[in-house]
Amino acid sequence: MRTYLVTGGAGFIGSNYIHYMFRKYGDSIRIINVDALTYAGNLENLKDVESQDNYTFIRADIRDREAIERIFAENDIDRVVHFAAESHVDRSIRNPEIFVETNVLGTLVMLNAAKKAWELPDGTYKEDKRFLYVSTDEVYGSLEEGDTYFYETTPFAPHSPYSASKASGDMLTKAYWDTYRFPINITSCSNNYGPYQFPEKLIPLIINNALQGKKLPVYGDGKNVRDWLYVDDHAKAIDMVQEKGRLGERYNIGGHNEKQNIEIINIILETLQDMLSEDDPRKALVSKDLITYVEDRKGHDRRYAIAPDKIKEEIGWYPETMFKEGIRLTIQWFFEHEDWMKNVTNGDYQKYYEEMYQTK
Ligand code: NAD
Ligand code: DAU
Repeated sequence: MRTYLVTGGAGFIGSNYIHYMFRKYGDSIRIINVDALTYAGNLENLKDVESQDNYTFIRADIRDREAIERIFAENDIDRVVHFAAESHVDRSIRNPEIFVETNVLGTLVMLNAAKKAWELPDGTYKEDKRFLYVSTDEVYGSLEEGDTYFYETTPFAPHSPYSASKASGDMLTKAYWDTYRFPINITSCSNNYGPYQFPEKLIPLIINNALQGKKLPVYGDGKNVRDWLYVDDHAKAIDMVQEKGRLGERYNIGGHNEKQNIEIINIILETLQDMLSEDDPRKALVSKDLITYVEDRKGHDRRYAIAPDKIKEEIGWYPETMFKEGIRLTIQWFFEHEDWMKNVTNGDYQKYYEEMYQTK
């Protein structure tokens, strides 16, 4: 039975990936989820798989070399899917240190532990082992007027402390292929949305605020563009890259779905209006009057847009979920999981929200 070590599996994309993998492979695989459970990690996301014999959760920090080496020593790991990271750009602007510690040094710990476990005396590796680094399109910087897309060959130009730290982890991963022929892949994905996303990110924040009649903060002029991808499509792409990708290669993953932030907000408001029944008291709260332009994010990248041509041509992956459908699925999920939202938005999140938006 193949064993996957998933880091950051209690977060947004990691938990969706674990669900996707169990839906696809059932009990023919085993998954070990290693997560430190920071503010962004939530075991509630995995309630429905936690009793499965082929699922194990280990609370560990990827910066803790001993703990990570022990996991490799005690388990015959075949695949590493490395999601664990500090993931929010706004937080990185306020507190860059933890981003370097987790995203750079933590990644180095993961690479070294896997290399140590998989390396044979002659410098080659045990058969059929793979390490995948989940990178981001933000490593490529920002597209400006007249630019086309990000390609795998686009030079790195990260701007925020978050993207600079992800770029460092990304380059270290590539260095392990170039230097040691350590079996890696890297995927650079655009903005994800879907169930279990923490409401510090644009889409769940807007859904949550709109349903409570709270202000909808739009940074700058609202015309920054992101390329949105439904999270299940990302999970599928990662699996396909690990199955069919050429070793040492990077694959861009994107939704062919560029939208300005203000367009996203308007679509959410219209979809909420459409989905809420007439007798739902929240219907009267959802309004475009809530849109509030606030101070811009420092160093705010203007546009991200991925050309997912290589992954389509080589591997056959393409984005399947249209935004219209994905946003309805997402909103429906939030309707059905009000308690989840209540639980993640009390305590620490509340403090964060007040601090983050007090000056905006
Ligand atoms: P998230 O913040 O929702 O989850 C991150 C997870 O990592 C949490 O469960 C957290 O507890 C865990 N974690 C953090 N520090 C850790 C540490 N030191 N040791 C162990 N676990 C730790 O993030 P996400 O949005 O699910 O993103 C997952 C990955 O995908 C990240 O690497 C991110 O850079 C990348 N990515 C995200 C997007 C997106 O749109 N969200 C797009 C492209 C790439
Ligand atoms: O592109 C991939 C990246 O997408 C990932 O690597 C990151 O982990 C992920 O957080 C995401 O980064 P962004 O900064 O693009 O996502 P965020 O949801 O924070 O913001 C999306 C856009 O919306 C961005 O232009 C900033 C804007 N925004 C965001 C928030 C939270 C607002 O206008 N208002 C807000 O309150």
